[in-house]
Order: sequence, then C-alpha cells, then structure tokens
Amino acid sequence: MEYMSAAPTQDAVLAALATVDDPEIKKPITELGMVDAVEISDSGHVRVTVLLTISGCPLKATLTERTTQAVQSVEGVTGVEVRLGVMTDEQRTALKEQLRGGAAEREIPFAKPGSLTRVYAVASGKGGVGKSSVTVNLAAALAEQGLSVGVVDADVYGFSVPRMLGVEQRPTQVDDMILPPISHDVKVISIGMFVPGNQPVVWRGPMLHRALQQFLADVFWGDLDVLLLDLPPGTGDIAISVAQLIPGAEILVVTTPQQAAAEVAERAGAIALQTKQRVAGVIENMSWLELPDGTRQELFGAGGGRTVAESLTRSIGAEVPLLGQIPLDVRLREGADAGTPVVLGEPTSAAAVALRGIAKGLGARARGLAGRSLGLTPAGR
Ligand SMILES: Nc1ncnc2c1ncn2[C@@H]1O[C@H](COP(=O)(O)OP(=O)(O)OP(=O)(O)O)[C@@H](O)[C@H]1O
Ligand SMILES: [Mg+2]
Repeated sequence: MEYMSAAPTQDAVLAALATVDDPEIKKPITELGMVDAVEISDSGHVRVTVLLTISGCPLKATLTERTTQAVQSVEGVTGVEVRLGVMTDEQRTALKEQLRGGAAEREIPFAKPGSLTRVYAVASGKGGVGKSSVTVNLAAALAEQGLSVGVVDADVYGFSVPRMLGVEQRPTQVDDMILPPISHDVKVISIGMFVPGNQPVVWRGPMLHRALQQFLADVFWGDLDVLLLDLPPGTGDIAISVAQLIPGAEILVVTTPQQAAAEVAERAGAIALQTKQRVAGVIENMSWLELPDGTRQELFGAGGGRTVAESLTRSIGAEVPLLGQIPLDVRLREGADAGTPVVLGEPTSAAAVALRGIAKGLGARARGLAGRSLGLTPAGR
C-alpha cells in the first residue's frame, strides 16, 4: 500500500487557522490566542481546540463551521474535529489588552490624535425628520462600499437603530469589554441593548455623558473607517458630550424642506460654532413625493435644505454643502420596519439612490487626516 499524501504539517494547519476570523472581533483566531491546541494524527485527522471568550458565546456555531472549513481545505486532511473551550481569566485579560493596543486603561480610540476614523454625528434639532433613517442607510451603504463602519445609537429617548438595522442579538460582554453585534456588516451599539424590555429610561446629563463615553471606550470597535452617531432630537447635552469626547467629530445636519424644521436644524448646526466642530453638510429628507405620473409633490414645502446650508455657511464662515435631497418613499419606511435598510433592500428606489449618492461622497473622504483640524494652536508670533 502506498500513501496518497502525507499527513498535513502543524504549520499548514496553523496557516489555515490564521484565515479564520472571530465573527465578533473580526480578527484571526490565531492572533487572538483562541487556538489552544492542534493535534494531527498520522492518518490526517485534525483536532483543533478553540477557546471562546465567554462560554455563552452566541456565535459558537459560526466559529466551529469556519474553523472546520478552513482546516478541511488543507492538503492531506482527512477529518476535522473542533473542540470548544473557554478562556481563563488571565487569557481574557491578555486578549483585552491586546485589543486595546496594550493599553490597560480605557480610552476613546477616535479621540486620539492621529485617529483615521471619520466620525459623523447626525443631528437635526427637530424630531421625526429622519435622522435615524439617514444614519442606518448611510451606514449600510458605506459598509457596502467595503468600508468598516460602526453606528452608535445615542438617542437614549427613542432608540430605533437596532430595529432599523435588524439587530436582535445582544452585545457579547467580555468582562468590561463589549463586542457590538454586527448586522449588514455594520457594528451597532445602542442604549436600547442595555435596557431590559422596552422600558422608558430617564436620563440626566451626567448619566448620558457616562453612557456615551462607555459606548465609545468600552466597545471594541476595531479599526473603523467611519463611525456614525445617531443623536436624539434637539440641541441638548448629548451634542455637547459628543464634542467633548470626540472633538474631531463632524456634524451632519438633517432637515426637511419645511422652513420651521430648517430653522431648528440651523440651531443644531450652529452649536458647532461653540464646540468648534466641523459641519460636514446638510441632508434634506422628505423632499418630495413622486406621483405615478412622474410629477413631484412637495408635501413639506421646498428649500429647507438649501436655506440651512447657506445660513450655516454664513454663520460658521466655512462652506457647508447641501449633500443631497431624499424623496419620500414608502419603501424607506418599510425597510426600516423590516430591519433591511432601503439602500440594500430596494437599491434602485429614488430614496435609495439619493442616500447612496450621499454615502458615495462621504465614502470618498472616508479616511485620513486631510481637511481636519489637528487641534493645534500656533505658538505665538
Ligand atoms: N424619506 C422618507 N420616506 C418615507 N418615510 C420616511 C422617510 N424618512 C423617514 N421616514 C419615516 O419617518 C419616520 C421618522 O423617521 P426617523 O425615525 O428616521 O426620524 P428621526 O429624526 O430619527 O426621529 P426621532 O427624532 O424620533 O429620533 C419613520 O417612520 C421613518 O420610517
Ligand atoms: Mg431617531
């Protein structure tokens, strides 16, 4: 008898395991210290022991499947067995430190000088104008472009982002580090995920600040290209907190065409003057309804977006562009209710086309420090 092929080497199996990403952390399991043992029998049967961060890891099955597939593809492998174990406290601590880049202290990665993540806070002043809809659709569209995207639902009064993105899974907590659920390739964290049932929460300013800080520092975001924050309506505490916690965050102002909404949106944008943040642009939503005969019915009037953009340009003294106009579209609302953003579910609908256009513009300036204030003050003379 002659052997058709020799048993695989340890190196070959490890190389295959290096292609397996942890579904939550999105890094190779070999780098995360999750591969505990690799045993290879003479006949080519491979037994891999993978350590989970916590025993109740919701993505056990995915991880097992990915590991099995990767090892199976190695030449000479005749069978694969994946055993699951759980990390010890020491192993978890080591993992956390590694994810935090060696820092034991929690800090907000996006606030560090040199962070390449673009942060956009979506604000409006007036409620119900479509901030959350715009946030989730831009996030999904940016992720579809291949960017790494995160969303913080900072609307503690009316969190709606998880539903709109179809997130049902709760975040996995590894001690004090939170792994955000991922839906449509977007990492999502919401205050709603930490509130039992559907209870209303009464939040005071300092609690809000603390909650936001926690979302930004304790959540493992990985290396994001773009982080979007869905703010509650108004010009309140949370906008100030965002400015304090991430000074480099830029503001996206959402308004409807209605003059009353525009005036309030302008005030939300004008906060940037005090906080010294940039206003990346204005998005007009619910701009018109296209009738079956192709005519446009302007249900909420016209001109709000342009008015806000021009007025902010004047008051801030820097160009604030109108980034786009999104028509009313019943499919946008349906997509939100079903958990599939319209940009993915009905990509050719008028609203989706407008949203994708805006996302394209934002995506093009996704990374890098260009055009951003470095927060340096010239030293005299
Ligand atoms: N362009 C649109 N076409 C049709 N429906 C829309 C459009 N934009 C938003 N909606 C719907 O309007 C409602 C309010 O939108 P959304 O929740 O996004 O607003 P918001 O500004 O986040 O509200 P809040 O101030 O309560 O947080 C939702 O039901 C949403 O589906
Ligand atoms: Mg909202």
